[in-house]
Amino acid sequence: MKLSVLLVGLLSAGLVFAGPPAPKKEGIEGKNYQWNAQEGEKIEALKLKGDKGRGEEAYEVCGACHLPSGAGRPDGTFPQLAGQHTTVLIKQMADIRAGLRDNPTMYPFAATLTDPQELADVSKYIEGLCIPIEHGKYEGPDAAMQVAKGKELYEKQCLECHGKNGEGNKEKFYPVIAGQHYKYLLRQMTEIRDGHRRNANPDMVKVIKPYTNDQLIAISAYQSSLVMPGSMCKPKAGKKK
Ligand code: HEC
Ligand code: HEC
Repeated sequence: MKLSVLLVGLLSAGLVFAGPPAPKKEGIEGKNYQWNAQEGEKIEALKLKGDKGRGEEAYEVCGACHLPSGAGRPDGTFPQLAGQHTTVLIKQMADIRAGLRDNPTMYPFAATLTDPQELADVSKYIEGLCIPIEHGKYEGPDAAMQVAKGKELYEKQCLECHGKNGEGNKEKFYPVIAGQHYKYLLRQMTEIRDGHRRNANPDMVKVIKPYTNDQLIAISAYQSSLVMPGSMCKPKAGKKK
């Protein structure tokens, strides 16, 4: 446990040789890109029944960055994972492992997951975690105005896939957005719009392409205010991390 935390620290600081560099797979920049192609370890992992107990063990190393609660960090460096659909988790991890979504920080750790069973286990564990209520939101004197502006855009063009409360769609691999950090959302949207998140969904790219930076700020402000009833953590009486 302590060893894995130390290893993450050393690796992030570039002090330890992290193994072979991530592979690179043709993504949305290529002509033959097909979003969510049903191939590789992903289909195997999706068919398997995940085991929470084994998943908790496999998650130990992940917690060093994403925190043991799965809350990630409000500064947006590490996304909140708790409560995410198993389908989305498996797809994103398989994409990172295959070099379809670039994530040099996480790659060495994603690469240590051994097989489709471990992908299924760790995803099952993460999906079962409650979504923390304290996360990074838009902070500014104009927050109310930004949220209102973002709501209008969201309901027009994003709700159809990401849901009224940011619940996504498990069967369709649409991610949960509720409880996600403002800064992470803004970074992802900017990368998706600009073609840098190479595993993006082309239908979403079409929608978000014409958005200005100001519109992305507003829509991230709104999304980070969403709450998914029944999935959020209960406010704790005592103090426990
Ligand atoms: C060294 C830090 C680090 C470790 C350890 C780490 N991750 Fe990550 N992870 C990241 C970063 C950074 C991102 C976001 C990258 C980006 O901005 O695209 C991320 C993104 C993800 C995503 C995509 C989330 C989304 O909303 O699309 C998933 C899923 C994920 N990590 C799961 C895991 C799991 C499971 C483990 C353990 C096996 C793990 N991570 C270990 C740094 C880490
Ligand atoms: C056609 C359905 C669809 C529409 C419409 C859509 N999205 Fe998405 N969105 C997706 C899918 C699918 C993904 C995950 C892509 C992948 O597989 O990596 C995604 C990913 C995201 C992410 C990254 C989440 C994460 O955890 O990394 C954000 C943020 C997002 N969408 C915001 C929006 C916003 C804002 C709009 C409206 C302007 C929108 N989406 C419209 C389907 C859609």
